[in-house]
Amino acid sequence: MTACDYRPGLEGVPATESSISHVDGQLGILEYRGIRVEELAQRSSFIETAYLLIWGRLPVEWELEQFNHEIRHHRRLKYRIRDMMKCFPEGGHPMDALQACAAALGLFYSKRALDDPIYIQKAVIRLLAKIPTMVAAFQLMRKGNDPVQPRDDLDYAANFLYMLNEQEPDPLAARIFDICLTLHAEHTINASTFSAMVTASTLTDPYAVVASAVGTLAGPLHGGANEEVVDMLEAIGSVENVRPYIDARIANKEKIMGFGHRVYKVKDPRATILQKLAEQLFEKFGDDQYYQVALEMEHVVTERLGAKGVYPNVDFYSGLVYRKLGIPTDLFTPVFAIARVAGWLAHWKEQLAKNRIFRPTQNYIGLHDQSYVPMAERLALWDSQTLGTAPQPVEETV
Ligand code: ACO
Repeated sequence: MTACDYRPGLEGVPATESSISHVDGQLGILEYRGIRVEELAQRSSFIETAYLLIWGRLPVEWELEQFNHEIRHHRRLKYRIRDMMKCFPEGGHPMDALQACAAALGLFYSKRALDDPIYIQKAVIRLLAKIPTMVAAFQLMRKGNDPVQPRDDLDYAANFLYMLNEQEPDPLAARIFDICLTLHAEHTINASTFSAMVTASTLTDPYAVVASAVGTLAGPLHGGANEEVVDMLEAIGSVENVRPYIDARIANKEKIMGFGHRVYKVKDPRATILQKLAEQLFEKFGDDQYYQVALEMEHVVTERLGAKGVYPNVDFYSGLVYRKLGIPTDLFTPVFAIARVAGWLAHWKEQLAKNRIFRPTQNYIGLHDQSYVPMAERLALWDSQTLGTAPQPVEETV
């Protein structure tokens, strides 16, 4: 390796060999285990897709039944986890709450037996089952309410919406939410999945793997973008304001949230499906005032940035779907995490099967052979510019 091999953001550098998912960014194709995501969205369910991703093939009938059954029966949280959540500040971000809760599972299921298939199976079930309960419980607790217990008679997506909104969802809403989960379940080696793989490669427990991935997904350049899209649509407010807003962002070299992707240079296939799902919801439950703003944004951004390959990504229309499903804006990224747990676990398993700890290198660009400068001499040596970069005193807040 030489200095010229360095690529910021590791763009184009293969980090693994994987058979879980594939993206063709020029043609706008996404496949899970070789099956197009459009087909899975139409014909499969999130739980069946999670099985496909994690265990490598579609389940036969009894396997799917058993998988579903086990997940339904592990949805409850230990009361100590609920008590821990009661101590979280209600103003805290739900992604931070989720990261803490995912990590806390490692305290309760602390045996680490990565060579035991039963341990692996149980960890998969627990994480898929409990993450939605954690998200819904935090939402109710921060409003001062008791969490709603999961209902074993409801499917995965319907149960989550039930726990969140305290009422059984409309079947169309539940089906659309299930499709959203399928669409977000996996996406090759993105930042959070890479984070999961690096953590997995140390042979730590799967709860730490998921916790590290949740922390990575939270950032505004990754999963956090879907929240910012809705804030942006609200700030723009009307169709006439779209063009001036986009012109100003481009002039200031600022990114427009929900657009652009490291891999896709055409419209993200998931954005196309999510847009159709949003339209189905508007047809049944009424329009969203920001949909026309979103359509105009897509039109103007395509006109201005299409030549650079900047088109709507998965986060652009998902927020409008989630709003209609009654999901609060700051739960959009946790909902993304509920789905992506499937992909993270698939990569965790794949990593374990051929593990070598991640330990990349660097091109050192710092100094050599420096001497230790005694305190009394530093003020004279450090110029004002260097001093300005030091941490400034901050007022203590409680
Ligand atoms: N708005 C305006 N210009 C953009 C955007 C955007 N959203 N995205 C890319 N561009 C421009 C860049 O300015 C750059 O132009 P230049 O060549 O003139 O400098 C060119 O397109 C290439 O963009 P990069 O920044 O090199 O693309 P990169 O692969 O590094 O970044 C990213 C991808 C981070 C997703 C970027 O497009 C972005 O910040 N988008 C907005 C945030 C967002 O929606 N994130 C969600 C992504 S999907 C997900 O993580 C689930």
